[in-house]
Amino acid sequence: MKNSQDRAPIAEALIKNVSKRTVSFDVPGHKQGQGNPLLRSFLGQQALQYDVNSRRDLDNLIHPTGVILEAEKLAARAFKAGHAFFIVNGTSAAVQTMVMSVAKKDEKIIMPRNVHRSAINALILTGAIPVYVNPGIDLNLGISLGMSVKDVALAIEEHPDAKAVFVNNPTYYGICSHLQAIVDLAHAHKMKVIVDEAHGTHFYFNKLLPMSAMAAKADMSAVSMHKTGGSLTQSSFLLIKDDKDTNRVRKILNLTHTTSGSYLLTASLDIARKYLALNGEKLFNSVIALADYARQEINEIDGYYAFGRELINGDTIYDFDTTKLSVNTGGTGLNGIEVYDLLREKYDIQIEFGDLGNILAMISMGDSTAKVERLIGALDDIKDVYAKDSILLKTQEYIHPIVRLTPMEAFNAKQKKIKFKDSVGRISGESLMAYPPGIPVLAPGEEITSGAIDYILYAKAHGSFITGMEDDSMETIKVLEV
Ligand SMILES: Cc1ncc(COP(=O)(O)O)c(C=O)c1O
Repeated sequence: MKNSQDRAPIAEALIKNVSKRTVSFDVPGHKQGQGNPLLRSFLGQQALQYDVNSRRDLDNLIHPTGVILEAEKLAARAFKAGHAFFIVNGTSAAVQTMVMSVAKKDEKIIMPRNVHRSAINALILTGAIPVYVNPGIDLNLGISLGMSVKDVALAIEEHPDAKAVFVNNPTYYGICSHLQAIVDLAHAHKMKVIVDEAHGTHFYFNKLLPMSAMAAKADMSAVSMHKTGGSLTQSSFLLIKDDKDTNRVRKILNLTHTTSGSYLLTASLDIARKYLALNGEKLFNSVIALADYARQEINEIDGYYAFGRELINGDTIYDFDTTKLSVNTGGTGLNGIEVYDLLREKYDIQIEFGDLGNILAMISMGDSTAKVERLIGALDDIKDVYAKDSILLKTQEYIHPIVRLTPMEAFNAKQKKIKFKDSVGRISGESLMAYPPGIPVLAPGEEITSGAIDYILYAKAHGSFITGMEDDSMETIKVLEV
């Protein structure tokens, strides 16, 4: 097979399939939209004609031998991976597969605390034991950082039996650990490195951006093509460095992956890969320039701090993804959630998230100078109209987890509800996150501390969306009966 990135084998096979005008007596029952006029007028015939089931000429996602395998190989070359799996159950499925591939029940994984909920859920599924590394906190900004290499080294020394190290590349805020050093260190201790690159797809397509997992020779990476790569929501790539692992990883992926992979999603991955492979360098040069321009302009407005590469400290902030427009709002007296709400409600501007101290606007290849200027203007206006006396905002502190049981043991144990405020010292049966950015405050199996309770109550009072608690009023929490 020749390495021609200008091909999109799945999309091409779908177009050919439609041109044959085959009569379908297979699922899906909407029969290319003919059976559901409401859906047809909503999505259009063009989209629905591609929503088909796997057929001989369209290959099969769970055991590809034709156009899907061809597309996977093209994607692997574009990302310089040994193999690339097309994922249609979100990056969460890729994260689960990575964890299941490196650790079994009662085996350890070293991971930063600021992992996404999908990583904690993967621990519940596998029974693996988390060894958390404090990612460090920038107390002025109230954001968690990358892992320090020396903290990873210490965790490896204390847990030489760990099977793998898990790394975020980058964090939601764009912060990168020293990935290359962590990979070298882990490999020297015969540990695998698995990387959550949900927010790092673009690293593979532009030299000015931080190092990617595959370039650092990490073993596996979960890449959210749908976040910054231009494919449809829920479509991702799972990359592996060594193609000899392809069959084993495919078997693990198929434990949870659907048997009815959507062709709209796989074709979107195929087309997005082609687009980035052919144009990524240029596209992300523009995105970087646009975000740099926005940062510069926002930093001219009193009260905001749009942070960037000046934060780099050679360790917990080894590199920074400049396409992320992260802005600390503390100097306006408004917290990030308030600014997020004002942007949406008063200015019709939707940003990625607001937390207690910051907002994050994702700048992508779909943006323009005019749109970015609208955001800058709105932030300026918000400062003039809504700013309060600068108050000392409580920042997001690191909650030291005390792991008493594995997430799987706690998830499966007998639980009961007790008053949340009286739960200090008990073992949590629930997984609590302040969302976004979806970082766990408590995971199943962890001792509930007064720090965790205070943080959750404070975050809720300031507008954070708290997920994971069965009781929406947050009066009660499920704890283990023991
Ligand atoms: C860091 C990180 N990892 C994994 C995921 C899971 O991705 P998905 O929503 O595609 O399942 C997300 C989603 O926001 C994320 O932020």
